[in-house]
Amino acid sequence: MKHFLSITDMSKNEMQVLFKTAARIKKETRAGKSRSDLMGKTLVMIFEKPSLRTHLSFEIGMTQLGGHGVYLAPTDIGLGVRESVSDVAKVVSRMGDGLMARVFAHRTICELAANSRVPVINGLSDWEHPCQILADLFTIWEIKRELKGLKLAFIGDGENNVAHSLCLAAGLWGMHLVTACPVGFWMKEEVVGLGASLCKKSGGSITQLSDPDAAVNKADIVYTDTWVSMGDESEKAKRLNFFKPYQVTTKLIQQAKPNALFMHDLPAYRGNEVTSEVIDGVQSIVFQQAENRLHIQKALLVHLLKH
Ligand code: NVA
Repeated sequence: MKHFLSITDMSKNEMQVLFKTAARIKKETRAGKSRSDLMGKTLVMIFEKPSLRTHLSFEIGMTQLGGHGVYLAPTDIGLGVRESVSDVAKVVSRMGDGLMARVFAHRTICELAANSRVPVINGLSDWEHPCQILADLFTIWEIKRELKGLKLAFIGDGENNVAHSLCLAAGLWGMHLVTACPVGFWMKEEVVGLGASLCKKSGGSITQLSDPDAAVNKADIVYTDTWVSMGDESEKAKRLNFFKPYQVTTKLIQQAKPNALFMHDLPAYRGNEVTSEVIDGVQSIVFQQAENRLHIQKALLVHLLKH
């Protein structure tokens, strides 16, 4: 039995297989063809935080595979308060065929996995957002066909789930990740260490800077995320102030390669981390990224739950 808690829980080869499956599934879905891979199976979805894409893509994905998704809202079960995390995992995994959870602390998803009899999927924790980055890699692959050697500039909050999973993905795929983040918001050392050790094998690199202009120089991809992640709301005023010089603008993106792609995991706070001009511009692939959550996660669900 496999869990998907970190982007490193899947090898590059496994991801390549998933990309091909997802591309096939995407075509079929758009042609209105239904599948029955997960007929009679149920995915239990536990949320400690709000969600649009993760909730929709997993629930719709299960329906389109012939199965079912059960949504448990933050107040429904009181994870770790009304009932211990381990007890929840034991009960859920005696009924459901898979468990997807969006949690505050990464240790919660690890504890769910440690006590589960069925595969557990990380639908975002404070440490990683592997489903998003899997969809992002699939999106880049759809457009470029090759990930190795690409320069990806990440601008904004490095000390967070999205940047962390990108760092590890760069290590797995041999991409060159350059981040520009204010001092104090750099990626966690543990993640950078792991990313760097993966880079030794793959030929990728991880560079952390504070200057957005230097980071985007000749980049193939410019990526940003919210400055105020879920759970960071109490620091909002401080963060908006610190991050001001890190907005992705047309002027900034012009320093990347002429055909550079703009990516964002959404939700986007227009006028903060990105201008409307950039997110609605021709280089932006944010809605392709969002749609691909559905297709790649269907491939992931089949990979993990079908036996
Ligand atoms: N870093 C963001 C990602 C949202 C999908 C957050 O954790 O809120």
